[in-house]
Amino acid sequence: MKSDNAILEVEGKRLELPIVTGTEGERAIDISRLREQTGLITLDEGYANTGSCLSRITYIDGEKGILRYRGIPIEELAEKSTFVETAYLLIYGDLPTETELKNFSNLLTQNENLHEDMRHHFEGFPYNAHPMAILSAMINASSCYYPGMEMGRPTAPFFDQHAARLISQVRTIAAYAYRKSRGLPIVYPRPSYRYTANFLHMMFSDPAEDYPLIPEAVRALDLIFILHADHEQNCSTSTVRMVASSQANLMASAAAGVCALWGSLHGGANQAVIEMLQEIHRTGDDGRRFIEAAKDRKSGRRLMGFGHRVYKNYDPRARILKKACDALFRVLQRDDPLLEIAQRLEEAALKDAYFIERKLYPNVDFYSGLIMRAIGIPVEMFTVIFAIGRMPGWIANFKEMMDDPGTRLYRPRQIYIGSTQRSYVPMEKRKGPSSSALP
Ligand code: ACO
Repeated sequence: MKSDNAILEVEGKRLELPIVTGTEGERAIDISRLREQTGLITLDEGYANTGSCLSRITYIDGEKGILRYRGIPIEELAEKSTFVETAYLLIYGDLPTETELKNFSNLLTQNENLHEDMRHHFEGFPYNAHPMAILSAMINASSCYYPGMEMGRPTAPFFDQHAARLISQVRTIAAYAYRKSRGLPIVYPRPSYRYTANFLHMMFSDPAEDYPLIPEAVRALDLIFILHADHEQNCSTSTVRMVASSQANLMASAAAGVCALWGSLHGGANQAVIEMLQEIHRTGDDGRRFIEAAKDRKSGRRLMGFGHRVYKNYDPRARILKKACDALFRVLQRDDPLLEIAQRLEEAALKDAYFIERKLYPNVDFYSGLIMRAIGIPVEMFTVIFAIGRMPGWIANFKEMMDDPGTRLYRPRQIYIGSTQRSYVPMEKRKGPSSSALP
């Protein structure tokens, strides 16, 4: 990491601010002492131009469409790795040796069962509860069941155990949430199955009959997990770091991440994409009307699965998923009218001046939903799948903060634009409609 200086002149005062340069040449002006030196803060609504931390985990170049975990291109991991191996890489910084991977897998298997008492919690949720609500509640609740889940920095053996428990049990909780929503009996994890096959088993097997695992479908879902495993300081990961900065425990921090991921501008976009495609199909639109609406701000519509805060080029994950989607549909010999609509929409949008000028390209959510639909995963579970995949990234970010003795409480500032000082007005003197006039 190199350092240089930038000159800032404010109200006649000349300041030298350090420029921090990352290993890939990314540069930032360090303004952490600006307020102390000038009384000023910086304003950047939505943090679009703010680096909140130094990190060694994931590198993105949004202009060039590059994504790397711990330096390894996502394309290589997609082709050669598994989700469990990728999780290890993200959390511990390097690809595991054979023994390390075996130990890590064993730890995941040892931790795949929920505490038996936690099963009762599922009975308290209404059958139509969104599985993201159940997921965040259950992850948070799990901190009640295990010793050593105290606040503060977990020490090494405890951390390894908590991390493995979270990665392994998030899949068990997700499958239970789905079975609960369908009124189906819970299927316990099967230790002999690998991570993703085990998830599909818990989702779809019946006590009397095992779900027939199709290797290509298992691999496609594993690929989705790999591609979602981290994405630097996005909305949910920043939330995890924000919560962790107060020294809340790993489960509390991850539960907050699930909540942040839920919304349709973030992880919820994969569900929104399918709902958009279904609507286009239902209304007999060939996509053109929807595209016109998406270009009109007043319509409140957006082309879901398009656009990204960081990528101003094709999201590399979307490119991989598009290929995987075509391959899976061929293997399964499936026809899905929504796939055709998606392909038409993409083609039309990529030629349209509105999308070209704004550099709006397909993102990871554009094709992932079609793959999940082909595997038989219901639409309300799509964001849950995203959360399962993102868990190693959140854990890696949590660990990075905890390992850094310099980590401070996250506490942004603001520019206040409300009323200046005024006095409290007694009720009888306040102006406005009387309560009898209220609806
Ligand atoms: N459809 C139509 N117009 C869009 C879209 C879209 N999907 N995305 C952005 N725009 C337009 C905006 O209206 C705006 O137009 P203007 O300059 O005329 O005002 C311009 O492009 C810039 O958009 P912003 O909202 O300022 O861009 P921002 O970086 O804040 O938003 C976001 C990024 C939220 C992802 C946005 O592109 C979007 O809403 N996409 C659809 C939802 C989606 O797919 N989300 C998943 C993102 S990937 C992930 O989180 C895993």
